[in-house]
Amino acid sequence: MKRAALLAAALLLSIDAGAQLSDAYAQVVTSTARPLLARDGADAATFRGSLVFFNYCVTCHGPNADGNGRAARLYDPRPANLRASGKNAEYMRLIVRNGGKSVARSEFMPPWGEELTDEQIVDVVSYLQSINARNDR
Ligand code: HEC
Repeated sequence: MKRAALLAAALLLSIDAGAQLSDAYAQVVTSTARPLLARDGADAATFRGSLVFFNYCVTCHGPNADGNGRAARLYDPRPANLRASGKNAEYMRLIVRNGGKSVARSEFMPPWGEELTDEQIVDVVSYLQSINARNDR
C-alpha cells in the first residue's frame, strides 16, 4: 500500500514534473513515516531524487538516510549513514550505479544501474548531497 502510493507519486512526477511536483510530494509526505524531505528551495532534481530514495533506498538506509532502515540489522557492515558520508557526488554515483562490490565495498549495497536511469542516479545523489550534514554551512 505504502509502496503503491510511492510508485504512484513517482509516476505522476515522470508524467509532468513541473505541475505535479507538489501533488506527488504531498503523497510521499503522507505515506512515509517521517521521511527526511528535500529542503525548502531545493531544485527539481533534488526533489525527484528524494522520491527515488524513498522508493528504492529506505529499506536499508532508512527514512532519515542515517543507515537505520528496517533491513539494516541484516547487514554487516551496516548500510552507510548517508547524512554523515564524506564521499563526493562522483563516488556516490559510482557506487549507486555499479554497487558496493565494484568499489571493494560490501556486495549488499546493490548495483542500481539496470533499474534506475542515469537521470535518477544523478537525482538521488543530488538529494543525498543536499541532506548531508557535512554540507551544512
Ligand atoms: C539491501 C540494502 C541496501 C539498499 C536497498 C541500498 N543500499 Fe546503499 N549501502 C548498503 C550497504 C550495506 C552499504 C555499506 C557498504 C560498505 O560499507 O561496504 C551501502 C553504502 C551506500 C553508499 C556509500 C556511502 C559512503 O559514505 O560510503 C551510498 C552512496 C549508498 N549506499 C546509496 C544508496 C542508494 C542511493 C540506494 C538506493 C538507490 C541504496 N544505497 C540502497 C546497503 C543498501
